[in-house]
Amino acid sequence: MTDTKKSQHGEWSSRFAFILAATGSAVGLGNIWKFPYITGENGGGAFVIVYLLCVLLIGIPIMMAETMLGRRSRQNPINTMITLVDEAGADKNWHYLGWMGVAAGFLILSYYSVIAGWASAYVLKAFTGSFFGADAAAIKVIFDDFVASPAKLLFWHSLFMLATMLIVVRGVNTGLEKAVRFLMPSLFVLLILMVAYAMTTDTYDQGVKFLFTPDFSKLTGNGVLTAMGHAFFTLSLGMGAIMVYGSYLPKDVSISKTVFLIAGTDTVVALLAGIAIFPIVFASGLEPAAGPGLIFQTLPIAFGNMTGGWFFGILFFVMLVFAALSSSISLIEPAVAWLVENKDMSREQACIWSGSITWLLGFGTIFSFNVWSEFKIFDRTIFQLLDYLTANLMLPIGGFCIAVFAGWIMKQQYTEHELDMPNALSYQAWQILIRYVAPAAVFLVFLHVVGVL
Ligand code: PFF
Ligand code: NA
Repeated sequence: MTDTKKSQHGEWSSRFAFILAATGSAVGLGNIWKFPYITGENGGGAFVIVYLLCVLLIGIPIMMAETMLGRRSRQNPINTMITLVDEAGADKNWHYLGWMGVAAGFLILSYYSVIAGWASAYVLKAFTGSFFGADAAAIKVIFDDFVASPAKLLFWHSLFMLATMLIVVRGVNTGLEKAVRFLMPSLFVLLILMVAYAMTTDTYDQGVKFLFTPDFSKLTGNGVLTAMGHAFFTLSLGMGAIMVYGSYLPKDVSISKTVFLIAGTDTVVALLAGIAIFPIVFASGLEPAAGPGLIFQTLPIAFGNMTGGWFFGILFFVMLVFAALSSSISLIEPAVAWLVENKDMSREQACIWSGSITWLLGFGTIFSFNVWSEFKIFDRTIFQLLDYLTANLMLPIGGFCIAVFAGWIMKQQYTEHELDMPNALSYQAWQILIRYVAPAAVFLVFLHVVGVL
């Protein structure tokens, strides 16, 4: 470390290492599990367009800002806010931003890990040949039986949390680079294969049309919020995950180019997942709005009926688990980095503490799929509430604050220097987006949802 600031973390070995880690954080359950089912619940094409616009106009500029803040301070998100607020002579209330990020990370991981547990369980189901020749009805029974069992969900959730903690203990920049380097291309190939299978169904056109032909009458105010929230969620924005990764980024790397690459990859993976899944949804007479079980009720049909489906099924769910792991470690890293840097904990202690809290919180999600499925607050199960609170509220609010901070509070000479854009015009474009477009868009969507607009 060249900086004198209190920082105990290392640095990525290269720009490519940062790209791999940040892509690893971005690409995960959000793309393959969540994007298809929320698209299905919100009527398809119009939702997808709003999501894409949000990625472009809100997500990408904020991703640049978040990376930049982290790199400038080289510390965990909480200390980053403290340092940069000091540097700018700004109000101390900005400190809360770092805290909200850490809280959001815990809450998201508590349900993320449960769903990643489902994917892990499906590795085993694929392996034992549960999907052979099964039709949609049989596949649905497998899923329903599985989520009805708290013990099974708890087992896989525990296993996944354990794996996350084991990786985080060793530090995010060892092993992760290699894992993601192999993971991304494999995931890509598998998704293309699934798309190829989807093409063999006679509902391929119907599926693609559902995804890309907008019908705005199907999109509600809450749908717009969900699309915007998902832009934050899928790019890992608004809670300090990308900030932490930015803090390990070498000084000479171009943030703008790097961010476009990461956001582009994330978007392509989500769209491929959608193209692979919806033709199967229609071919098997399923509801697009089937909810969080959607991929678990569709993809196994494909694996059960395609040539080589046993092998590809195992591989697919293994890849999904790895994609989830490379995201889960970024959800918990802000808390761990803070405990290590500020509370003088060892990495082991920090992982055990934050891992155990997340694990416990996970019970709420586990039970909301079975014993507590009728227990609702604001008409939502605990899982739905956690998802809404984090993806639709905390991340957009965090992102809004990051945009305002980077656009209005930080000195322009610093942001210009850190971003190091190819030309003046692109810096200006970023500035307009981060100062006006992104904050205004988030604000207007909120107003729309509460019915003011
Ligand atoms: N971006 C991840 C996904 O799409 O699966 C989820 C996520 C990771 C959200 C890290 C937020 C975060 F900070
Ligand atoms: Na994502």
